Amino acid sequence: MYYNIVTFGCQMNVHESEKIAGMLENLGYQPTSKKEDADIIVFNTCAIREGAEDRALGNIGNLKKMKKANPNKIIAVAGCMTQQKQVADKLFKMFPFIDIIIGTHNLYDLPIYINKKLKENKRVNENLSEGKINENVIASRTSGENAWVNIMYGCNNFCSYCIVPYVRGREMSRKKDDILNECKNIIAEGKYKQITLLGQNVNSYQEPDIKEYNFACLLKDICKLDGNFKLTFMTSHPKDISDEVIELFKTEEKILKELHLPVQSGSNQILKAMNRKYTREHYLDIIKKLRIAEPNIRLTTDIIVGFPGETEKDFEDTINLIKEVKYDGIFAFMYSKRSGTVAEKMQDQVPEDIKNYRVNKVLELEKEIQKEKNNE
Ligand code: 5AD
Ligand code: SF4
Repeated sequence: MYYNIVTFGCQMNVHESEKIAGMLENLGYQPTSKKEDADIIVFNTCAIREGAEDRALGNIGNLKKMKKANPNKIIAVAGCMTQQKQVADKLFKMFPFIDIIIGTHNLYDLPIYINKKLKENKRVNENLSEGKINENVIASRTSGENAWVNIMYGCNNFCSYCIVPYVRGREMSRKKDDILNECKNIIAEGKYKQITLLGQNVNSYQEPDIKEYNFACLLKDICKLDGNFKLTFMTSHPKDISDEVIELFKTEEKILKELHLPVQSGSNQILKAMNRKYTREHYLDIIKKLRIAEPNIRLTTDIIVGFPGETEKDFEDTINLIKEVKYDGIFAFMYSKRSGTVAEKMQDQVPEDIKNYRVNKVLELEKEIQKEKNNE
């Protein structure tokens, strides 16, 4: 029996797909890259922007014919998109050939639903409003020399544009011993050169049972593990990165000299409306400290253009911040309205053509900066 997993979205989803693979292998399935040969196809979806949802819809819709040719093929849809109840219900109605629809909080029940489908031929559309950490699923890793390790799940920040807190729930950190054991096993396997710690907001990691054990403590403990490996982490929220963590770029050899630090906007007014809880000045101060700790640090960021109310002047502030920081890489996105978020209801939504113009400006500027850096 064969499985095929189609993943959309962030590294968190990429790693979650490795856990889905682990569960399926446990049931006796083997991987195949050909959907036609698969006995089960799982879509692991993303809801961060409308485009991601549209891509998933298109991909799922395309399976209708394949399912007709082989009605025994199981089709499952999981992830952030289907954690939204109204979206899950719509999909369930729209695509009768989908057998299983689950959200983020009941992902680990997938084997139960597969068995139900096989034994009772029952379609499933199940969603939970809260989840628990599951330490029993072993990931079947697919990302070469890099091993992903989740340290926390969920997000408490409610940036006004973002769907993540609604589909991933509140922050939950794993126990440090569980994380350290997973890292030890990864190192012992001998085939990984790098460990990447994952979380929506890794800097707010908090050991559930040890009050003073924070993200810096965890980084130091992982660095102490024997073995020849590098350590990196994502994603960091500027409001939570501590001086202690910044210092570790200088003192810990195993930590890669790179940091993804999403700024989103260079305008204080827009940062406030985004509920980011830092100012442009505070952000630039962090960049300064990072470069003092490690002058060659590679810095990357996320930018959203066209957030509601973003004026030409606000956008100029973003452009000037990018010029000042001279990032080594930028992920630039056009603001996308997400159902249920605070920004959805905001006045002054920016027209698509202006968003398009601004995102291209950012990308052009990024190219120029790269050229300049290469010349240097
Ligand atoms: N529209 C556009 N971009 C978004 N992001 C998050 N939510 C939205 C949205 N509604 C971007 C942010 C975040 C990255 C993962 O996706 O820049 O850092
Ligand atoms: Fe979304 Fe903000 Fe949480 Fe990041 S920190 S996942 S942008 S709400």
